[in-house]
Amino acid sequence: MLKIIIITLFGAFLFASDISQSLVQQQINESFITKFEYGKMLYNNPRGISCAKCHGDNAKGMTLSKFKHKEKDKVYHCEIRTEDITTTSFDIFNAKLDPDILVEKPKFEKENLCEKMIYGNTMPRYFLTKNEIESIYYYITHINKK
Ligand code: HEC
Repeated sequence: MLKIIIITLFGAFLFASDISQSLVQQQINESFITKFEYGKMLYNNPRGISCAKCHGDNAKGMTLSKFKHKEKDKVYHCEIRTEDITTTSFDIFNAKLDPDILVEKPKFEKENLCEKMIYGNTMPRYFLTKNEIESIYYYITHINKK
């Protein structure tokens, strides 16, 4: 008699864990869609200028503008462009977007005057929450896998 009870209980337990596993799976699938869609919405429409305007719809980068700069009789042909950010590490991505993280401006050699002028002076500062930053990151790193 005890055996039967134990077997039944065990069966019920297995059954329950099956159900809860499928519920978890369902939640993961649902949150995949919402996280992706939410990130997409933010990428195209953050509070501020759309990321897509400068980084392209697929975040693969684009040329924004070209200009000439003259300094000490030397003419520099500069091009403002964005690179592919779909493979950027989260740390770099986060540092660029979280206003609380102070990043030291990298040192540029004399001949890289264009890069020096452009770096940090084109992209606006955003005030996104951690969750928003993570969602955009999730979106751009999954954009080309769909
Ligand atoms: C007005 C144009 C513009 C907009 C809008 C813009 N960016 Fe940028 N972004 C740039 C430029 C130019 C660079 C490269 C120069 C630099 O780092 O300052 C850059 C660099 C970055 C980098 C650093 C890449 C690396 O490898 O160092 C990330 C990440 C990034 N942008 C993400 C975003 C996201 C996300 C948004 C929207 C919330 C956004 N950007 C909006 C112009 C823009």
